[in-house]
Amino acid sequence: MVAIVRPVRIESPQRLRDTEKTRTGFLCASVVNISLALAIESNQTMPARILDGTKIASDIRSEVAAEAKTMAAAGIRPGLAVILVGHNPASEVYVRGKVKACEQVGLYSEQHTPPETSTTADLLALVEELNARDEIDGILVQLPLPPQVDSKKILMAVDPAKDVDGFHPLNVGFLSTQRPGLVPCTPAGVIEILKRSQIPIAGQEAVVVGRSDIVGKPAAMLLLNANATVTVCHSKTRDLWAVSRRADILVAAIGRAGMITRDFVKPGATVIDVGMNQVTDPAEFQRLFGGGLAGGSAANAKREAAFRAKGSTLVGDVHPDVAEVAGALTPVPGGVGPLTIAMLMYNTVKAAKMRRGSGQWSVASGQ
Ligand code: GUN
Repeated sequence: MVAIVRPVRIESPQRLRDTEKTRTGFLCASVVNISLALAIESNQTMPARILDGTKIASDIRSEVAAEAKTMAAAGIRPGLAVILVGHNPASEVYVRGKVKACEQVGLYSEQHTPPETSTTADLLALVEELNARDEIDGILVQLPLPPQVDSKKILMAVDPAKDVDGFHPLNVGFLSTQRPGLVPCTPAGVIEILKRSQIPIAGQEAVVVGRSDIVGKPAAMLLLNANATVTVCHSKTRDLWAVSRRADILVAAIGRAGMITRDFVKPGATVIDVGMNQVTDPAEFQRLFGGGLAGGSAANAKREAAFRAKGSTLVGDVHPDVAEVAGALTPVPGGVGPLTIAMLMYNTVKAAKMRRGSGQWSVASGQ
């Protein structure tokens, strides 16, 4: 058994399975590692609790609608201006959802649709005009912008008090120093899901996979502010599976369909899937839904029928088989997605209250 004492490079269980036959020097240690990993996993026999983002978003929207009604009685109707440049089909769908949600919760909204050929100067002029209008409380510039536009310059031009996306450096700074401000919608939604599902955050190991300005970084900051011990992983992280496997709370925000497989997840962990990927390749569909423990379920059969009819399906960054290992999991669709719009409504009302001086907004977590 002395061979086990040799330094062992940590590899994913799958790679160990693939290599153990040829690397005899590692054989004993590999077998020990695999057995341990499989033994731990085999303790988890219950399917994950599914965290219903649609229900949580609906609760938040009802709270925002009640707040909007109270404000209307005081003569204030919070207003959101959305800027959609050009004709990105995904952005068009998102913006339609945002405008419709405003109507449903009783907020004023207006849409601006400058052409694809717009310049940075054109958009700066539009943002300045919206900054100056008192009835507009929130300004949202839908991303991505066309390549000729300096996106950072545009986001910087939005009045921080109307920055309902929370992307302005001033709001980023407020978040990192725990001062009142506007917080990015999707990460704020992640925290709402955790809190409203009574999943403890303080003292937990949280791992965020992805470091975007829109999701990964602010999600990490919010988890840190809620007293989690936070690790942020990215494309250069070594042994990503081993790091993410430490997580009690794993947030996947990479933008790669089904990348987080069961090997990346500690049994019993809470997994929050921020990914929204359109899968059109039948082989990819098969990898995700065709085999393993999740294969053959009624839900998968339904998804397969829809995939055949439509030619695509919406998939998160988390592989469906993770449901067999995780303790709790957000589905895609119906998990984090609906929270993004609900938190935009929340931020618009919050911006109106902060800017128009009618006191602090107190329903959801925010500040
Ligand atoms: N594009 C994708 N997600 C977002 C978002 O949260 N806000 C904006 N403005 N654009 C996006």
